[in-house]
Amino acid sequence: MKAWILGSFAALMVSAALAGSEDPIHQRHELMEDTRDALKPLVGMVKGEVAFDASVVESSFATMKHTADVAGSLFPPGSDTGGDTEAKSTIWTDRAGFEQALVDYDMAVDAAIAAKSQSVEELKTVLGGVTKTCKGCHDGYRIKDE
Ligand code: HEC
Repeated sequence: MKAWILGSFAALMVSAALAGSEDPIHQRHELMEDTRDALKPLVGMVKGEVAFDASVVESSFATMKHTADVAGSLFPPGSDTGGDTEAKSTIWTDRAGFEQALVDYDMAVDAAIAAKSQSVEELKTVLGGVTKTCKGCHDGYRIKDE
């Protein structure tokens, strides 16, 4: 009975986090790739390569918010090796620091959402705040930076 409850709870957590594979390494790769894909058009707008579009800005930051909501659950104990992960062992040895990096990111994304940018200039400021926190976490908790 207990195992059954635990099992269905785990299944729920997994489907809540992301559909598909139950492997947290795979899931966090997918999540981070979605995050990068959401970032791309915004960087293009700031560079003047993509036309400014407030609705794209809004949906991209919503995707990034989703990352903030679920990322913490995708680094369970034991997922520090295997599956060609780039996660640094510091995630597990310095969990508080990792959680703080996630909070910093979450706050930057919240500020970006609240700003409701209507111009490239406005977007530039809030986007800089967000990408700084991507890098902040990658610097301490990811093996390779792109
Ligand atoms: C709280 C920490 C944290 C934050 C914030 C964060 N990342 Fe990551 N990211 C990681 C870790 C850890 C990995 C390595 C995961 C692995 O290989 O298991 C990673 C991996 C990636 C990857 C590689 C995915 C792959 O398939 O190998 C990309 C791309 C990426 N992040 C983009 C971003 C972008 C863009 C942002 C900000 C908008 C961001 N990340 C914010 C921790 C973070």
